[in-house]
Amino acid sequence: MDIQRVGVIGCGLMGSGIAQCAAEAGCQVWVKEANEAFLTKGLARIHGAWDRAVTKGKVTPEQRQAWAANLQGTLSFDDLAPCDLLVEAIPENLDLKLRTFAELDRVAAPGALLCSNTSSLSVAQMGPALAPERLPRLAGLHFFNPVPMMPLVEVIRTLATSEETLSDLRAFVQKLGKTAVLAPDAPGFIVNRLLIPYLLDAIRCAEQGLSSVEDIDTGMKLGCGHPMGPLHLADFVGLDTMQSVSEVLFDAFGEPRFKAPSLLRQLVAAGRFGRKSGSGFYRWEGEKRAEALPL
Ligand SMILES: NC(=O)c1ccc[n+]([C@@H]2O[C@H](COP(=O)([O-])OP(=O)(O)OC[C@H]3O[C@@H](n4cnc5c(N)ncnc54)[C@H](O)[C@@H]3O)[C@@H](O)[C@H]2O)c1
Repeated sequence: MDIQRVGVIGCGLMGSGIAQCAAEAGCQVWVKEANEAFLTKGLARIHGAWDRAVTKGKVTPEQRQAWAANLQGTLSFDDLAPCDLLVEAIPENLDLKLRTFAELDRVAAPGALLCSNTSSLSVAQMGPALAPERLPRLAGLHFFNPVPMMPLVEVIRTLATSEETLSDLRAFVQKLGKTAVLAPDAPGFIVNRLLIPYLLDAIRCAEQGLSSVEDIDTGMKLGCGHPMGPLHLADFVGLDTMQSVSEVLFDAFGEPRFKAPSLLRQLVAAGRFGRKSGSGFYRWEGEKRAEALPL
């Protein structure tokens, strides 16, 4: 299947990025939000990114116009009926996602690809909301934040996902100019299963006073050639998100390396969520990292 028409459900942080990339790749995109205010905000995020690209001379106004013509917002699931691919990017809540997949089951064309961008839920758990004949077309499509910049997409197969679905999704990821890796429907998939224990270990090091926050970050950045240190990255991911993902992983595997350290819980309890709340391991001025804060 050559995927031409894409429906994205949720126009938040991830959904807006997915819709933006699909529109830039020449797909007809419908992005569905829960209400007018969120839709306006999400579409403004996409148009703002395109405006900045024009201002910086990275794209022509004509190109921007063509991308904008590919993108439509909607509040109705019914408008998603023509889509070849539907990607759900609503909040990480199973009940909400099941209700969304039930709506997709109602409106989607037979044979449409149905995907979840979930980070920590099992993709197979969405299955009960769908008619059994749709299960071979159900998969995970796990994008990374910020979507327009991050070149990886994990394609998640459940036991019921068909080979045809995997090859259609790989082709779609390639059309977006990104690289697909195939991952099992197991908690953390590939990247978070390896990344989260590393970040938790760095937090344990800070907790045990191994070194300062800055020196732990500088050590890993310059010593390992990483683009940013682990505590900086934890602030970027969101410490509240880190805590909930670590709970899912610890529940699944029971290994101490997945357990949230007490320092992480304390920071979250204090409202220090990282970049999104203006403070975490560091103080943040919008997108810009400032000094490390006392622990
Ligand atoms: N934030 C990340 O770094 C990241 C990375 C990879 C995957 N994910 C996953 O992506 C998904 C979305 O995360 P996010 O960070 O974009 O969340 P977000 O809160 O920024 O966006 C979710 C959006 O979904 C909308 N929504 C809620 N119910 C809806 C409905 N019924 N119909 C349409 N829209 C609805 C909300 O209004 C909101 O705008 C989650 O499953 C998350 O685990 C997040």
